[in-house]
Amino acid sequence: MSQRPAILISRRIFPEVVARLRAHFEVQTNEADAVWSRDELIARLQGKAGVFVPTAEPIDAALLAACPDLRAVCSMAVGYNNIDVAACQAHGVMVTHAPDVLTETTADFGFALLLAAARRVGEAERLLRRGEWTKWSVDFMAGADVHGATLGILGMGRIGQAIARRGALGFGMKVIYHNRSRLPEATEAALGGAERVELDALLQRSDHLMIVVPYSAATHHVIGAAELARMKRGAVLVNIARGGVVDDAALAMALRSGHVGAAGLDVFEGEPAVHPALLDLPNTVLTPHIASASEPTRRAMADLAADNLIGLLATGQGAKTPVPEMRG
Ligand code: DGY
Repeated sequence: MSQRPAILISRRIFPEVVARLRAHFEVQTNEADAVWSRDELIARLQGKAGVFVPTAEPIDAALLAACPDLRAVCSMAVGYNNIDVAACQAHGVMVTHAPDVLTETTADFGFALLLAAARRVGEAERLLRRGEWTKWSVDFMAGADVHGATLGILGMGRIGQAIARRGALGFGMKVIYHNRSRLPEATEAALGGAERVELDALLQRSDHLMIVVPYSAATHHVIGAAELARMKRGAVLVNIARGGVVDDAALAMALRSGHVGAAGLDVFEGEPAVHPALLDLPNTVLTPHIASASEPTRRAMADLAADNLIGLLATGQGAKTPVPEMRG
């Protein structure tokens, strides 16, 4: 009988990464890329020491109790709100995530959504495809400027800072941010003099508001009806963080009234379902959670999750990127 640990890869990933893992482990894959129910996931985790989590599979106390052999949960995402880290700690299960490798790609996409929403790219493209481009007129598809505007960033971690860099250095924007802690002065200076402000000032001063804060109980609906009402009239909102940080129903109402001018949204409450009111609005650019989806970045994310599994369960070298709660 093989002495190699058994692991589960719960969704289809790149074959080269599977091959790397097969050099160390007995690997069960999900070639059909099926979305397993919780019971199916638990059944497949029996006897597995590790799980490679490509997406947002919930890993909670009840699952851990039902999978006593599990020792490592390695996610290829940077956000890990789907994993109950405290429960993992209680069960002696290590948790890793995939920071850094997706920072620049995700920041690029934040800007893609900002530009598309502010300059009405989606709306204009849909109009053209419908054959409704018939003549020039002076305010035809006139949107908001991005260059020179005030960019507000909620959540100033790695991705927030990469967005700030693009805004300040690429588009000449004034960057303001709200974060638990202030960045070092030298970092603020390198971001064109980025300024930490309270949430209220962020809402009131931003021409464009970019949401990058991780999801947690504390950030659930941190942007709700009251916060949306405090935003500048006509401001653009971009959410590349997680569904649930923004109250989508309240956002749809603010977009419909025109108080929020436009929104670029890559994440949604209850995704892959999208609030129907958002689908009906012309002033939204909606994408299916693809901010990190460039081919090289998705490969780097998968490689990092594989490195973590190998380090934890095969070579004894430990995890490269444990979640912050588990850093020694
Ligand atoms: C992440 O890594 O958290 C991105 O949202 C991709 O899931």
